Amino acid sequence: MSGDQGKGERVLRLVTSNEGKAREFAAALAGISWKVERVASTYEEIQADTLDEVADASARQLFAEGTVPTPFVLEDAGLFIDGLNGFPGVYSAYVFQTIGHQGILRLMEGIRDRDASFESRIALCLPGGDVELLSGTCPGTIPRAMRGSGGFGFDPVFIPEGDYRTFAEMNIAEKEEHSHRGNAMAALRERLARL
Ligand code: IMP
Repeated sequence: MSGDQGKGERVLRLVTSNEGKAREFAAALAGISWKVERVASTYEEIQADTLDEVADASARQLFAEGTVPTPFVLEDAGLFIDGLNGFPGVYSAYVFQTIGHQGILRLMEGIRDRDASFESRIALCLPGGDVELLSGTCPGTIPRAMRGSGGFGFDPVFIPEGDYRTFAEMNIAEKEEHSHRGNAMAALRERLARL
């Protein structure tokens, strides 16, 4: 018997304007005892050196505005390429919008070290305004050409460790098994079960 019986349905708001992220969150949180409601509101991301700072500050700012009921989650993610000293990292969204996959492949021309990792930080904002950060990492490599048509963002140019396919060649469940977001969402499910 579920420990939630008699408590009524609890609602977790997911704040994102990114359709790809929203689909992955919906799939990973489908079976939990919380109702997940997407809020397509946007928020100003601060410029900072780490995903921790960006996710934490974004959640605190949104809480201060008081427009999204708690508890809510938002996520900041990035692709960190070893041979480019961690670029695009916290600038991944801007770099994707400006130079895209092809730009990344061009920057990687002639670079032998193709190791990279995707990182995810989920900020969980609790009633009262406390913010907790949940992390997920996925090591992998950058292929020499784009492959696949699924997913979003840099998925066609990232092969997770232990597989030969890019994220864009996987379905949503396969990507979740490997991905930074999949790991962070597993930590979130575990945290929500204790709330
Ligand atoms: P943000 O987390 O919305 O700031 O976005 C970071 C950027 O990183 C996105 O615009 C994508 O280009 C990229 N990104 C984040 N997560 C993923 C992913 O799972 N696959 C591919 N690209 C991603």
